[in-house]
Amino acid sequence: MPPVVDRAEGCILHLADGRKLIDAGGGAVAVNIGHGRHEVADAVAEATRRVSYVLPPWVTEERIALVELLRERWLPEGLTRVGFTSGGSESVDTAVRLALAHHSTSGRPERRKIIGRETSYHGLTMTALAISGHRSRRAPLEHVLAEYPKMPNLDAEGLEKVLWDEGPETVAAVIAEPVVGATAGALVPPDGWWAEVRELCDRHGVLLIADEVMTGFGRTGKRFGVDHWDVVPDVMVGGKGLSSGYAPLGGIFATEEVVAPIAASGEGLMFFTYSAHSAACAAGLAALRILDEEDLVTASAIKGADFLRRLQEVADDPHVLEVRGLGLMVGIELVRDRNTAEPYPAIEGMASRVVAEAMDRGAWVYPAGDGNASDALLLGPPFTISGSEMDEVARIVAESISVVCGT
Ligand SMILES: Cc1ncc(COP(=O)(O)O)c(C=O)c1O
Repeated sequence: MPPVVDRAEGCILHLADGRKLIDAGGGAVAVNIGHGRHEVADAVAEATRRVSYVLPPWVTEERIALVELLRERWLPEGLTRVGFTSGGSESVDTAVRLALAHHSTSGRPERRKIIGRETSYHGLTMTALAISGHRSRRAPLEHVLAEYPKMPNLDAEGLEKVLWDEGPETVAAVIAEPVVGATAGALVPPDGWWAEVRELCDRHGVLLIADEVMTGFGRTGKRFGVDHWDVVPDVMVGGKGLSSGYAPLGGIFATEEVVAPIAASGEGLMFFTYSAHSAACAAGLAALRILDEEDLVTASAIKGADFLRRLQEVADDPHVLEVRGLGLMVGIELVRDRNTAEPYPAIEGMASRVVAEAMDRGAWVYPAGDGNASDALLLGPPFTISGSEMDEVARIVAESISVVCGT
């Protein structure tokens, strides 16, 4: 049975049966500013009172203010074109439509392929899933998913090979998460990987899409994941932390060069009914202001490094291959034998069992891994988490692994 949540405050979920859970997963790694921020709720209420709904392309105060704030204080230089949806999957889908429309309106309709990573998750709409490499989430639909090429996870030379195998002139875009989240548990690429991927895309006229749905808005200790490697993509996708979970909101951010040929052609990208919903934009605006005013991106960087230290007991467990991460996006990879890195068989569902045990002991952590191998846990708490809460999570996770894995 899923828990019945009565209210949430800071990092704590108060359940209807009186128990408390530390939200060490930030829900689905979404709640960057923490729960129960009344100023966000007030902003949503105020926006709803003023204008409940108008067509997405029309202007409201909240829409304009959010675009301006993103341009002034958040987005990497050059990413000036902004659109909103109701979440990550819709945003990824829109980014793909944007890349395809960019090429077709530039006279290159043969550029249709999107290269994703072998281990990746970009969402559940049919295109987002088709470009993803999350095996268990793909499995029920594998027979109908459109085929898209996949590149190796951490080896840029592998991308070059895929480009040549496919024919670079047929490729529209490469998409990747800066740090692989749900599929692998905070898998950080080697230094140089992002720069090499950027260079390959430039060389072959391929657009680079960074999926920052999980990593964006401070999660990795910088504004965006790609900032760790000083790379600016052509298109960036956000969700989760954009509104910190207070309202369904996703974002697509692109350069002028990507959008210009589409605009010149007179073609438009159709909106979803709830794209750029004014109340959701109000939530995003209030959440981003809190991140800024309380310097929470810096907090994510500092606390993330601290959290890794506090997880030493977990790292020492013989069933833990690695504890890793950037900022407050921390992954714990579980294996049957760390000397050989032998994974648990998928059928044993070890990550989910550890998550269930941790829930019983008072903490929510997010299960990760792609259903075949690499059972992993993701810790993605609010950036307001305290030292004692981190200690408590570390203790619960260490105990849960020990009980479930029989350490
Ligand atoms: C990197 C990434 N992209 C896209 C998505 C899909 O976002 P949503 O669940 O909001 O549709 C997720 C969700 O976990 C994600 O982690």
